[in-house]
Amino acid sequence: MGDRWRATHDRALILRLHRRWNPGLFELAGQYSHLRPSDFPAERFNSWTHRSGGHFDGFTLAHIDDERAVVQELWAKSTGLSDWNVPNWDSRDLRRLDETWELVRRIQETAGRPTFVRVPNDNPFGRLFAIRFQLPLETSLLLATRRPGFVRYVRLPAGYGIRPYGVGDEVAYASIHNRCFNASVDADEMRRWASGPRQESFTATFHGNPVGFFIAEVRRGRRLGDFNLAVSEGHRGRRIGTALLAAGLRSFERREVTTVIADHWATNAPAVEFYRRHGFGIARTYDFFRIDEATLEVPKPVGADPEGRAARLRRYRQLRRFDRVSRREHRRQDHEVRYCGNLRRRRCRNLRRSTCEDQRTTCPHAVYL
Ligand SMILES: CC(C)(COP(=O)(O)OP(=O)(O)OC[C@H]1O[C@@H](n2cnc3c(N)ncnc32)[C@H](O)[C@@H]1OP(=O)(O)O)[C@@H](O)C(=O)NCCC(=O)NCCS
Repeated sequence: MGDRWRATHDRALILRLHRRWNPGLFELAGQYSHLRPSDFPAERFNSWTHRSGGHFDGFTLAHIDDERAVVQELWAKSTGLSDWNVPNWDSRDLRRLDETWELVRRIQETAGRPTFVRVPNDNPFGRLFAIRFQLPLETSLLLATRRPGFVRYVRLPAGYGIRPYGVGDEVAYASIHNRCFNASVDADEMRRWASGPRQESFTATFHGNPVGFFIAEVRRGRRLGDFNLAVSEGHRGRRIGTALLAAGLRSFERREVTTVIADHWATNAPAVEFYRRHGFGIARTYDFFRIDEATLEVPKPVGADPEGRAARLRRYRQLRRFDRVSRREHRRQDHEVRYCGNLRRRRCRNLRRSTCEDQRTTCPHAVYL
């Protein structure tokens, strides 16, 4: 019985395990704290537990929607690695990782759509999983936090102003939001969002027309606040975002929020810089690793058994020897020159090019790569 991941519908148990592995700030099902079983309904979330020696020592929670499947939580006990060049992986870790690979493979096959494994920076098992199977990194979500309150006063350029949300603004909110985030929220939904009991919203205007918004929402427990901020493209870089943030942070302060969360993608360069400049510190990072058919077809375990390591070392030495002997010979053809150049950096980029198949057969280097 190799597979010790067991499917479960016991959401209370999953919640307990989630609390154990996520004692600090987290993001799950749109919540940052006070998670309830109803936040992850059985129709959209699947869960598994891992048992060892009669104890639960891991759990997995996957969310499947129309576009993708995301393994949101993947935790298990591990011995881990104490440095980056530790040669031998612990056999118990390897067994658990292989069992987990099978589980993720099943999730991907069942979902039949792109699947991602989401791993926070403080999850050693998840990171070992990504390393062992060389999963490509797709993107990262940053949870940045700060206390509400002071933002340096900004003078807005002529024609701009900030005012509270007014009925009718939701049309502009929806249009700006959808353009910024490639979403399809309609005006009604936006109105409910912007004017809900836990929200206070602000509109940035240019000659009276909305060009940006800030929806400041107090989350469960009243101690956490999060927000949605967007400025229309043609009006960015004029301190509108800063003025909206200042209004939003004051609103949070009035409502006794202690921590304000800005979650944003690590690739969103303006937002990363904007939040850094305004005193947000990164509290947690979630990396999304892609599992698709290509990844599944060729599982590439690394750092695994000493056998594999020895074989890789042998191949590497052969490669070095070959490189010394035949460099001049190899310069004759164009692609080979590229190979030699690349080999000096010990990595062949040509294999990624469309012609690589051809080179794979004609260039002896390729044998070793
Ligand atoms: C992030 C965003 C709200 C910033 O709004 P903005 O009105 O352009 O911001 P400001 O003019 O107040 O800029 C304040 C600071 O942010 C940083 N910043 C803003 N735009 C930047 C960019 N394109 N590149 C790098 N830094 C940038 C700068 O440090 C800037 O200070 P400076 O002008 O003294 O250099 C805006 O780019 C936006 O709406 N983006 C799309 C939606 C989004 O990503 N929202 C946040 C994610 S939840």
